[in-house]
Amino acid sequence: MVIKKLIWIIISVMFIFITVAECKGKMGLCHKRDLLGLNGVKAAIHLDTSGRLEKWVGRDCCKWYGVSCNNKTGRVTEINLPGLMSSSDFIFQSKMEGNLSPSITLISYLEIIDLGGLIGLTGNIPPLIGNRLSNLRKLYLYGNNLSGALPASIGKLSKLEELQLQENSLSGLLPYSLGMLLNLNRLLLHTNQFPGSIPESLTKLSNLQSLDIHGNRLTGRIPENIGALQVLKELDLSNNFLTGKLPQSLSNLTSISVLYLDTNLLQGNINFPASSRQMMSLSFLRLHDNHLTGNIPTTFTNLVSLQRFSLANNMLEGEIPSTFGNLLSVTEIYLSGNRLSGVIPKSIGKLSLLLHLSISNNLIESPLPSEISSLQNLQTLDLSFNHLNLLTIPKWLGRMPSLSRIFLAGSGIKGEIPDFLRTTPSPILELDLSANHLTGSIPTWLGSLSMLYSLNLSRNSLVSTLPDSLTKLQDLGVLDLHSNQLSGPVSKIFNIENRFDGGSLLYIDLSENSLSGGIEEMAIGKQKQISYLNLSHNHLTGRLPSSIGKLEAMKILDVSYNGLGFNLPGSLANVSPLETLKLQENKFTGEIPTGFLKLRNLKELDISNNLLVGRIPVGKPMSDFPKSSYSGNKGLCGKPLFPCKF
Ligand SMILES: *[C@@H]1O[C@H](CO)[C@@H](O)[C@H](O)[C@H]1NC(C)=O
Ligand SMILES: *[C@@H]1O[C@H](CO)[C@@H](O)[C@H](O)[C@H]1NC(C)=O
Ligand SMILES: *[C@@H]1O[C@H](CO)[C@@H](O)[C@H](O)[C@H]1NC(C)=O
Ligand SMILES: *[C@@H]1O[C@H](CO)[C@@H](O)[C@H](O)[C@H]1NC(C)=O
Ligand SMILES: *[C@@H]1O[C@H](CO)[C@@H](O)[C@H](O)[C@H]1NC(C)=O
Repeated sequence: MVIKKLIWIIISVMFIFITVAECKGKMGLCHKRDLLGLNGVKAAIHLDTSGRLEKWVGRDCCKWYGVSCNNKTGRVTEINLPGLMSSSDFIFQSKMEGNLSPSITLISYLEIIDLGGLIGLTGNIPPLIGNRLSNLRKLYLYGNNLSGALPASIGKLSKLEELQLQENSLSGLLPYSLGMLLNLNRLLLHTNQFPGSIPESLTKLSNLQSLDIHGNRLTGRIPENIGALQVLKELDLSNNFLTGKLPQSLSNLTSISVLYLDTNLLQGNINFPASSRQMMSLSFLRLHDNHLTGNIPTTFTNLVSLQRFSLANNMLEGEIPSTFGNLLSVTEIYLSGNRLSGVIPKSIGKLSLLLHLSISNNLIESPLPSEISSLQNLQTLDLSFNHLNLLTIPKWLGRMPSLSRIFLAGSGIKGEIPDFLRTTPSPILELDLSANHLTGSIPTWLGSLSMLYSLNLSRNSLVSTLPDSLTKLQDLGVLDLHSNQLSGPVSKIFNIENRFDGGSLLYIDLSENSLSGGIEEMAIGKQKQISYLNLSHNHLTGRLPSSIGKLEAMKILDVSYNGLGFNLPGSLANVSPLETLKLQENKFTGEIPTGFLKLRNLKELDISNNLLVGRIPVGKPMSDFPKSSYSGNKGLCGKPLFPCKF
């Protein structure tokens, strides 16, 4: 009895012991191969700003941060170490530097690898990944610095559902084997260096919902059979070098919602939808910046889900279909830069959700339909450079409730700037009436457009001084009044008020006027962010003030063809972003400050036809400019001019 009991106890203890040991094998201590693989991954990374890898110590790898195991087999199934770490109360962008070790392929039961957005991972995608990790469902290596080709073995990952390799430096032809990944639903390869053509095999990926290869160097045609992708919702092939016509089969993309084919070299007609009940979900369409020709087909207006579309910068011709008003969901229309002719259809007035309409640079004619005025939500209207020959700005425009960005450049507008722009229901943010035949003065009330950000009245025949009220435009960022007949002192533009230190003004062009006086007040006021300043072809006198050194954002300065004089301020050398400096045709005297050698971004210099003397500072960039940059200064010598005699 006793012996029997003892044996039973021994057996029980052994059983417990074995169970515990087995349990440890499954739940705790890592499988040798997995441990080897994980330690290999860790060893190849020399910097981890998140500190997560630091905690990868010991043998209990299933408990390591970002590692998950199967609770039955104890094998590692997931590595989750994304760069962007977030919880309910913080977001932290971490970085890892080092190589993506091929030893990751030792971890043979991996289903998910998320090493996305770590910024600094380098090296290749392990060539044998397809042979070794046959359980992989999600592979995220986006947002790193990986290079080399996408290995052909990838086609063996038959369980793969998501492949996200975007934002790396990957190159090499896209492998044909990608077409074998029949479970793939997201294929994101954008923002890499992939050359060559899109493999036709991709059209076999019958579960693909999202295909994004934008921003690569792809050439050749869009696969003819692309329409076979019946569940595809998002297709982005923009920003490549794709050629040929739009495939006929596009119309067959029954689930498509986002279609971006812009910024390629595509030719031929817009051929979709082929019939009226196709592509019914298409909401976002970009075909801009291609070489598309022909008319906008009337079937196009059957795309009733369209919200935003851009056909800009192609060679489209003919009239805008009269049925445009059927696109009832549309909020943004971009048709600029084509050869569209005829009138804007009246039906456009039905597009009650429209926020943005841009048809500039076409051949559109008058009359402008007053139906536009019923667009209650329209914020931006850009009709610049057509054949409108408006003569006057239509009065109804000044009554549109939401309109705040008005672009009517090159529209044949005559007479004075109309008063009704002063009292529009929505404060004007941007106004472009350039290249018209405006006469009279710049109205004082402009200063009361308190939200004005951009004002372009260039290339008109305005005769007046700059109104003092301009200094009230606290949000002004862009002021372009070039090529008018403006006179009087220029200095007030430097006193435009601002809520913030630093200022909002970025761009000032007052060139080709008759403005006079000095510019000593430059950078005395709050405006210190100016990056483009063109005061050329005026009657300015006095000196370039040394305060100019405070314009620390300036890239382009042109004060040529004036009567400015005295020495060049040495402080200009502090304006390190300066790329273009044009001081020619003035009366500057003295030597060129040697400090100019600090202007390492300077690419264009013209100080010809002044009264400068002495040695041109020796070294980059000053010695590298052509002779013509310095000519017409009798007293200058040294490279690139003739050697100095002293
Ligand atoms: C084991 O994993 C499965 C699937 O991940 C889960 O449903 C189950 O609750 C887990 N079992 C234990 C004991 O943790
Ligand atoms: C990417 O890697 C290359 C070397 O392969 C290196 O020169 C470059 O600085 C890296 N870029 C970033 C953003 O880390
Ligand atoms: C579009 O789909 C229909 C029906 O599946 C098919 O008959 C037709 O050939 C397809 N068209 C193109 C251009 O692929
Ligand atoms: C102002 O209009 C002119 C003529 O239309 C154009 O050339 C210029 O680029 C515009 N200025 C700005 C800052 O956009
Ligand atoms: C400044 O304006 C003049 C006249 O409008 C123009 O010819 C010149 O190119 C402009 N300078 C720069 C640097 O843009």
